[in-house]
Amino acid sequence: MEITLAKSAGFCFGVKRALKIVEEEAKKSKITILGDLIHNEYVVNALKNKGIDSAGSLDEVNSERLVISAHGVADSVKEKAKKIVKVIDATCPLVEKVHACAKDIEKNGMHVVVIGQPNHTEVKGITGNLSNYTIIENVEEVGKLKDKNIGIVVQTTQDIEKVNEIVKKIKKTAKYVKFYDTICFATKDRQTEAKEISKKVDLMIVIGSKKSSNTKRLVEVCSRNTETKHVESDNDLDKRWFKKKKKIGITAGASTPNILIENVFNKIKNY
Ligand code: F3S
Repeated sequence: MEITLAKSAGFCFGVKRALKIVEEEAKKSKITILGDLIHNEYVVNALKNKGIDSAGSLDEVNSERLVISAHGVADSVKEKAKKIVKVIDATCPLVEKVHACAKDIEKNGMHVVVIGQPNHTEVKGITGNLSNYTIIENVEEVGKLKDKNIGIVVQTTQDIEKVNEIVKKIKKTAKYVKFYDTICFATKDRQTEAKEISKKVDLMIVIGSKKSSNTKRLVEVCSRNTETKHVESDNDLDKRWFKKKKKIGITAGASTPNILIENVFNKIKNY
C-alpha cells in the first residue's frame, strides 16, 4: 500500500499557542480551564494527569486562576470570571478576529449572520456578544433570513465549499451583504490538502476527536471524493477497510496530537 500523510495534519497555530500558555502558567500555580482547552480527549486527559482540570462553568472553578480555552467565550463571561479569579486568555487570535468582525457588523446596523454550528463553544462565544443575529448551519436555512442588510461571519473551522454556497444564496436574496471570510488559514490549508489527497487515493483516514469541528469538516471534504473513515486513534482502525486498497491517504484535525497520527500511520504501514 502507498500511504500519503498530509503535511498539514495535526496541531494548528492556535492549539500550539493555547497549550504553551497552559503549560507555562501551570508551572507557576494551580490553574483550571473553562471547558476543554481544545476538542481532543487525549490532550484533555494528558492535562488532567498533570493536575490541570477543566471546569464546566464558573461555579465549578476551584483555583485562583482560570484559563479561557482556544475557542473563546463571550465578553460577558470573561468579565464575570474576572470578578472571581485571575483570567488567563488562551483564545485563538483568529477566533478573536471573528468576535471583532461580528461586533463591527452589529455596530454598523446590519443583521449578523454567523455560519456555524449553534451548539459549538466558538459560536456561543461569538453570539454571546450580540443582540441581533441568526446562526445558519446549512444552505436550506437561508430562507429564514428576513433582514435585507446582512453582515456575515463564519465559525473558523467551517467547510469552505459549504460556506461559499450559503453566502451565494444569501447574496441572491438580501439587498446588501458584507461578507467577512473568517474561516482560519489553518482550516483552509487542511481542507485544501485533504481535498487534493482524497482525489488520488482509494481510502482516506481522518484522525481526530468526534467532538472536533474541524476534523468533522475534513471528513466531509474527503467523503466527497473517496471512501473516508473517521478515527480517534489507531484503536479504531479495522484491517478489513484496507482490503484491495492500494492508495491510502491520512490527515488529521487541528487538535490531533502527533503521537496519535504516528500510531495510525505505523499501524496501517504494518497491515
Ligand atoms: Fe485558531 Fe484556526 Fe486553530 S481558529 S485554534 S488556528 S483551527
